[in-house]
Order: sequence, then structure tokens, then C-alpha cells
Amino acid sequence: VIDIRKLYGQSGMFTYDPGFTSTAACQSAITYIDGEQGVLLHRGYPIDQLAEKSSFMEVSYLLLNGELPNQAELEKFNSTIMRHTMLHEQLSTFYRGFRRDAHPMAVMCGVVGALSAFYHDSTDITDPTQRMIASHRLIAKMPTIASMAYKYSVGQPFMYPQNELSYTGNFLRMTFGVPAEPYLINPIVERALDRIFILHADHEQNASTSTVRLAGSSGANPFACIAAGIACLWGPAHGGANEAALNMLREIGRPERIPEYIARAKDKDDPFRLMGFGHRVYKNFDPRAKVMKETAQEVLDDLGISDPVLDTARELEQIALKDDYFIEKKLYPNVDFYSGVILNAIGFPTEMFTALFALARTVGWIAHWNEMISDPEQKIGRPRQLYVGATQRDYVPVGQR
Ligand code: ACO
Repeated sequence: VIDIRKLYGQSGMFTYDPGFTSTAACQSAITYIDGEQGVLLHRGYPIDQLAEKSSFMEVSYLLLNGELPNQAELEKFNSTIMRHTMLHEQLSTFYRGFRRDAHPMAVMCGVVGALSAFYHDSTDITDPTQRMIASHRLIAKMPTIASMAYKYSVGQPFMYPQNELSYTGNFLRMTFGVPAEPYLINPIVERALDRIFILHADHEQNASTSTVRLAGSSGANPFACIAAGIACLWGPAHGGANEAALNMLREIGRPERIPEYIARAKDKDDPFRLMGFGHRVYKNFDPRAKVMKETAQEVLDDLGISDPVLDTARELEQIALKDDYFIEKKLYPNVDFYSGVILNAIGFPTEMFTALFALARTVGWIAHWNEMISDPEQKIGRPRQLYVGATQRDYVPVGQR
């Protein structure tokens, strides 16, 4: 705590907290994390129970509305979401302006931001009905947007949604199906991907959610706010870690090389970090990583795939968990450590990993955005700073400097 009167003669006190390690920026009733115990609850429900027993649609309803739906509510929610899956046809022209080798996250930032140019009837944030329509649209359109980014990158035609399919089954078909052939959804893959979506759905005030809240605090429309969240998520310290983790595991290649990478991660002169390890809040196992690890094994077994990357990941985890450096700093695998192994087995290229994270996190972002906008005490977010620059001085004409 700094007495700013001593520094600048202004009144009041403020905290200097780089990285917001100990500052609550809001009150929230959506998600609870106990980082010391490795607990994650959505609206009170443990993440492992949700991952095992529910569906992404159910969890989306829960995050948005505060309670689990009954059967009729779930069916209505599902059909509402699926009714909004189509994108305005003009947006396909927008895709064609990108290079084919554009990163899908670059495309997602652009296309999601552009939604506000198409859906004017859901940008009035003072109207709760419009806010809910925008929320449904965003949840519904993200699979279409992400799959179109993929299709564009591989040079295949865009696939229109099929709304009688499940949310996740429809996404798989739009991504891996082709118009000329029927696409058979593998129920094991569909369930695994749905579980990955559940595990990524929300995580309280992480960097991207805080970005969405900060953007929304100025009154920006929801599509623009979610685009801001996508931009933040892209970084390798956040959602980009799933792509970076798989690339790292592939680079390690075989278990014999693990000690070399552990040594690099511990070397303070080397910027290398073990990707998919460590977390700002968890100082224990990330409960999502536990479910992800089990799911990775199940999916690979079910698909009959033997992936040496999974062996490397397991071995790396075992070695790191016994190493004094990782023990002392309380560094455990996070949600991104095992997710890449599953996504790779399903057939997604690494560049799509963070786009899938964005797809799933959209529901969390929009739930937080709604919670913030509905709060009568909501104000524009405006952090202060600790000024460390020059004191006042007089301008000197350029010829005399
Ligand atoms: N490998 C090696 N050392 C690490 C790692 C790691 N993965 N993570 C943290 N450390 C060390 C740091 O060097 C630091 O050491 P020091 O105290 O000697 O300086 C100490 O642990 C604390 O690290 P910070 O960066 O200060 O911790 P912070 O809470 O700011 O960062 C973060 C958390 C960004 C997740 C970090 O652990 C990291 O970079 N991990 C790798 C990237 C990653 O997996 N990100 C995904 C996070 S989960 C998500 O967003 C979905």
C-alpha cells in the first residue's frame, strides 16, 4: 500500500500490485477456485463431476443462468443455441480476405470482432433481452467460426451447420466433414471433445476474462468484448500454452531427453519454461489436468492410437513432480499439458488448439460480461499506475537540445 500523498501530493491510498496477484477486481458468483487445495467449482458444482456427468450445453446453461437446467430447460436452451449456429453469408467473404496460412486465432479475432457489424439488433447492452440474444449468438456461432477458420486454412469448402446434431457433433462435422460425403460422428471423439469444452468453459478472473470485463466496462458491445478476450487468450502464457505444450513435447521427442529440458526450465539464464506447467492460482494439481490426463488415455485407447508424446508427457510429469525446483515453486501440470495430446489424436492441427479453447471459453467470458453489466455498481475499469518517469521540466526548442 502506497501513500500517494507523499509521492505526488494527491489524496488517497492505492495498492501497487503488478500482475494483480492479490487484487480482487470484482465480486463474482460464477466460479470458485481454491488454488492451494486444487478445487474448481462452477456455481458450486465440482469440475470433475461436471466433466464426468454433464454436457457442455448443460454447463453453458449453468454458467449463464446460475442453476443446472431441468430436461425441458436444457432442450429449449439447446434448440435456442442451435438455431443461431449459422453465420451471415457475407462473413464468408470476410474470411477470403485472409491469407490461407493465417493463424486461426488471427482469423477468430477478426471475425468475432466483425460480428457487431452484422448483428445490430443485439448490441444494445442496456436491454437484457438483447444481451441474452448476443450471448446465445456468440456461444452458437463460435464452432461455425472456428471450423470455417480451419476449412479456409486447408482449402476446403465451408460446411453449413446441421442443427439436429449435438453442439459438439455439429462442430466435428463442420470441421472434418466434406459436402460430398456423409460424416459419421465417432461418439468417443464427440464425448471427449465435449469434455474438453467443459474443462475450458470458465476459470474466474484469468487474463482473458479480465480483458473481457475491462473492455465491457466501457460499454463496448459484447462481440467486441469477446474479440478482446480472444486476443488476450492467444498468448503462450495463457491459452496459447496448449499449442506450445504439444510443440515442446514433440521437440523433446523421447523420454531420455527429458532431463535436458528440466535442466533448461530450471536455468534462470534460459528463458525456456515447461509449457503446460505452473499456474498463477493453483499451487497444487490443476483439477482440470487430472481429468484431461485420464481422458487422453481413454481416447487414445478407444481410437487404438499409441502416441509416444503421451508417454513423454507422463514421464515428464513424474520427473518434474519429484524435482526440488518444481516442488519448491509448486509447479504442477495445468489444463494445457494433456489437452494437446487428445486434440492431436482427434485430428486437429496444433494451430487450432487455442481456437478450440476460445470456442469453449466464450461461455465463461459472456457469463462474466453479463454478470458485470447487470451489476448496478458496475463502473468503468480504470487501474491507476505508479509513475516513475521524469518530474516536471520545461520545453526546450529543438535547435537548443
Ligand atoms: N517452468 C519453469 N519455471 C516456471 C514455470 C514453468 N512452466 N512456471 C513458473 N516458473 C517459475 C518462474 O520462473 C518463477 O521463478 P522465480 O520465482 O525463481 O522467478 C516462479 O516459478 C513463479 O513464476 P511466475 O511467472 O512469477 O508465476 P506466475 O503466476 O506469474 O505465472 C504462469 C504463471 C504464467 C502460468 C507460469 O507458470 C508459466 O509461464 N507457465 C508456462 C505457460 C503455461 O503453461 N501457461 C498456461 C497457464 S493455464 C491457462 O492459461 C489456461
